[in-house]
Amino acid sequence: MTKDYAYYRKAIEGRSFPLAMVDLDLMDKNIALIQQQAGEIPIRIASKSVRCRYLLDYIKSKLRHYAGVMTYHGREAVWLSSHSDDHYLMGYPVVDKTLLAEIGLAGKEGKKITLMVDESSHVQLLQMIAEEIDTVFSVCVDIDLSVDFGPLHFGVWRSPLVDEEKLNALLEVLENLDRIKVEGLMGYEAQIAGVGDQVKSQSVKSAVVRILKKRSLPKLRRWRADAVNTIRQAGHTLAFVNGGGTGSVQSTREEKDITEIAVGSGFYCPHLFDNYQDFQFHPAAFFACQIVRQPKEGVYTCHGGGYIASGGVEALKAPKVHLLPGAKLDVNEGAGEVQTPVFYKGKEQLNIGDPVFFRHAKAGELCEHFNELHLIRNGKIVEIVPTYRGEKKSFL
Ligand SMILES: Cc1ncc(COP(=O)(O)O)c(C=O)c1O
Repeated sequence: MTKDYAYYRKAIEGRSFPLAMVDLDLMDKNIALIQQQAGEIPIRIASKSVRCRYLLDYIKSKLRHYAGVMTYHGREAVWLSSHSDDHYLMGYPVVDKTLLAEIGLAGKEGKKITLMVDESSHVQLLQMIAEEIDTVFSVCVDIDLSVDFGPLHFGVWRSPLVDEEKLNALLEVLENLDRIKVEGLMGYEAQIAGVGDQVKSQSVKSAVVRILKKRSLPKLRRWRADAVNTIRQAGHTLAFVNGGGTGSVQSTREEKDITEIAVGSGFYCPHLFDNYQDFQFHPAAFFACQIVRQPKEGVYTCHGGGYIASGGVEALKAPKVHLLPGAKLDVNEGAGEVQTPVFYKGKEQLNIGDPVFFRHAKAGELCEHFNELHLIRNGKIVEIVPTYRGEKKSFL
């Protein structure tokens, strides 16, 4: 069966709009592809890019090698851990004292949550709270893997741990903190994993990005390997070394120290992940809005549609019309707050009441707009499952 416009229109016939959907057949293919890219290295699911408990469990059940979940909020980690024995790695530092105490108490009850740290104030705060509630925190040290080329910062702004000196200073502080157990090291090479290097409308920029990616790889690999050694020499036993993201699985797995790779976006494959030279996933998650007006021939105005992705503001972050080749958003109106005009002159016969399918730019945001995901298999809705939002959980 061709997964074209008619296929999905039929699948959702009679449903109310807008609706979010995940094609399980295509998600299965994405899971298999990610597993193949990672080889024997376990995958840690980046929950920020899934935001649905049912699908977190589903993906886990399909992965041959699974390391746990990388959460994006401490409260989320506590909530998820109350339902499962998985290991939860908080991908970002938590400095909310009340929440840290909750996480500490969950730890005392046997829940496995590891917190991310990258500076002395993080670990000192954890030590203080651990003393108060009489526990020990498991932590992961986050090193910075961005690479500077002269004035150009190629990467993201996360950890201040950019070199041995900074890492050693943190390790010295840790020597005196008896309630902190260093169990992991993480380095997220965002400039490889999260930056498209084959953007159709930006061929020159993409060529430059490919060169920079290639040049930054040896540097970040050396730093991650050195950091692993330094932490081990300081007497810590690293239970895991985490790296990567959807766009870097194949390069991250080549590093000998890596024990797990974090992946989230690749399961849904939002449209920013169409722009990579080395792989192509299947668009498995999208949403449908209904055509409610036709102001002019070739213009179909849908109700809703403003599901813009976060991050740097640029046209690439807008949702893209899916399955109607040649269809475009209006440059001025874009994906509007309450309505979205779509310009289309293709062969599909569109009428008022029909759906227009859109793919979001990034994976996480879709589930922040919808309470439910309609799961499609073999051209039919087989189940409707709640998103985090549908379970009244919003972590932002
Ligand atoms: C720490 C960390 N690891 C991995 C990822 C990769 O996530 P994804 O595969 O959804 O791009 C991210 C994304 O921001 C991240 O922050």
